[in-house]
Amino acid sequence: MSERYDFGKNWASFIDANFSAERRKISKQRLLDFLRKRDLQDLSFLDIGSGSGLHSMAAYDAGAARIHSFDYDEVSVRTTAHLRALAGSPSNWTVERGDVLDIGYLRNLGMWDIVYSWGVLHHTGAMWSAIHNAAGRVAPNGLFFIALYSSNVASPSTEFWLDIKKRYNLADASGRRRMELWYLWRFGLNRNPLRLPLLIKQIYDKKKQRGMSYMTDVRDWLGGWPMEYADDQEVIDTMKEKHGLSLVNISTGEACTEFLFGRTDAKSGAAV
Ligand SMILES: C[S@@+](CC[C@H](N)C(=O)[O-])C[C@H]1O[C@@H](n2cnc3c(N)ncnc32)[C@H](O)[C@@H]1O
Repeated sequence: MSERYDFGKNWASFIDANFSAERRKISKQRLLDFLRKRDLQDLSFLDIGSGSGLHSMAAYDAGAARIHSFDYDEVSVRTTAHLRALAGSPSNWTVERGDVLDIGYLRNLGMWDIVYSWGVLHHTGAMWSAIHNAAGRVAPNGLFFIALYSSNVASPSTEFWLDIKKRYNLADASGRRRMELWYLWRFGLNRNPLRLPLLIKQIYDKKKQRGMSYMTDVRDWLGGWPMEYADDQEVIDTMKEKHGLSLVNISTGEACTEFLFGRTDAKSGAAV
């Protein structure tokens, strides 16, 4: 079995098939809403594991002063660079290959007002090292926006999904298509064809969530490897204890829990 899922290939086809002005707008608005900001003027934005690059582009569109995107996968890097080119190759947006587990590389990047890593750190093979490395890049008044697979909502169980993912990665192209159809039948339709209108609505709604696509996310979910789960409360406690980062916003209940952390002002106890 390959040690790593080809994330980049999935992101390249997502952009080829789905990139649009509408998704670009949705992605920007969702980013600002979760960050609870009107824009990102004067703020620097580090995108760790940029994938398609759509969320780096969202930061650019939101007016970030400086953006740096990096990803382990060369094809993700190329896809992000392609979006940067579509944005007019701005000089305040850099894209390169990098590994969040490479602490030397991370330190050289300096500190950032917003460190963003959505659905990445649990796919590195060393989730907690990746979380600590990423958190270490948050500037004194900065924000840390991460999304991690939650062990609290994994259904039927974490073991079930780890086994499915291993099987998906071992399968050939037609085996993978069959598993995608099986996923749609069992989890999309809940084995009930009458739920088709609901599934169609879910597919449509997926676009409204960060501008993503349902089938790209199904492939990413079935294939994403290596992969670990995180316990929501453990993440919250660890960020506070080890990095002085307090929870500012959270969205849970989906496969990935989204967390927004900020530094706490010792006097007021408020996240700044
Ligand atoms: C599920 S995708 C998420 C992409 C993007 N952040 C998003 O929200 O759409 C995970 C991405 O993390 C990247 N990745 C995995 N391990 C990495 C590492 N050690 N350092 C940097 N990026 C990594 C993968 O190549 C992939 O592009």
